[in-house]
Amino acid sequence: MEVVRTITELREHVRNWREKDESVGLVPTMGGLHAGHLSLVEHSRRHANRTITTLFVNPSQFAPHEDFATYPRKEQADHDILAAAGNDLLFAPNVSEIYPDGHSTRVDIQGLSQILEGEFRPNFFTGVATVVTKLLLQALPDVAVFGEKDYQQLCVIKTMARDLDIPVQIIGAKTIREEDGLAMSSRNQYLSVEERKIAPVLYQVMAQVAQNVRGGEQPASQRTWAEAELTKAGFGAVDYVAVRDAQTLDPVRDASRPARVLAAAYIGRTRLIDNVAV
Ligand code: PAJ
Repeated sequence: MEVVRTITELREHVRNWREKDESVGLVPTMGGLHAGHLSLVEHSRRHANRTITTLFVNPSQFAPHEDFATYPRKEQADHDILAAAGNDLLFAPNVSEIYPDGHSTRVDIQGLSQILEGEFRPNFFTGVATVVTKLLLQALPDVAVFGEKDYQQLCVIKTMARDLDIPVQIIGAKTIREEDGLAMSSRNQYLSVEERKIAPVLYQVMAQVAQNVRGGEQPASQRTWAEAELTKAGFGAVDYVAVRDAQTLDPVRDASRPARVLAAAYIGRTRLIDNVAV
């Protein structure tokens, strides 16, 4: 598996594949790879002849108080995992390749990027949409795969690709979980042994909310219950537990249309997010 660090080299590989009529899949990541990321590579390999995984800890999606400096960076381990998974090319650019001096364009999705995660991380989706737009335009893949683990991010990226007429099919892949239900995440490494024991309660509570709403409970009544359960289990601040339309992420009153439970909460200093289908 080759590693390239420049957009020019990336495009050379894509051009060579295109000349042989091979299709291309893209899997953007920030590294610290786990089985969730690998499932995206598998999806891409099913949909395209060649798969490019990108490894770039994107500074523009971190707020100054967030974990940009300490985010897991393990390029060699990530490289070996991807090579074993049959990934064709690793694109691991430096910050200056993506954001050279004078870079001043941002991609901003109105509405969708201001709610839920956007309320608590105000510039997050602008940073994500900007880097994903750039990666899509750099590689011009046929398909790009993103995890449902970051459900709102997936919605934002689908909207952005549609609105900007980027000729790519955005594929959503289901969340890969640990045996006890905890959604896999690069940030789970931050959890202490004690915190790791508490963490699966987030999924359990959300699954219960989904079941309650399916059973006819009012979504609005569920937030208070869920928050109390999380606090009881040892969680800190609960940023949100919300039941939303699965497509628009607008609030819903019942389960008459496909809906999604979305939540974000702290255990100690680690912020976990998750979502489940109603
Ligand atoms: P990162 O957190 O590294 O995640 C990369 C991709 O893996 C995302 O599409 C994410 O939804 C998916 N993923 C993470 N955990 C998963 C799990 N347990 N099951 C299935 N998929 C999972 O998300 C980002 O990076 C960045 O915001 C990025 C899109 C790369 C832009 O910088």
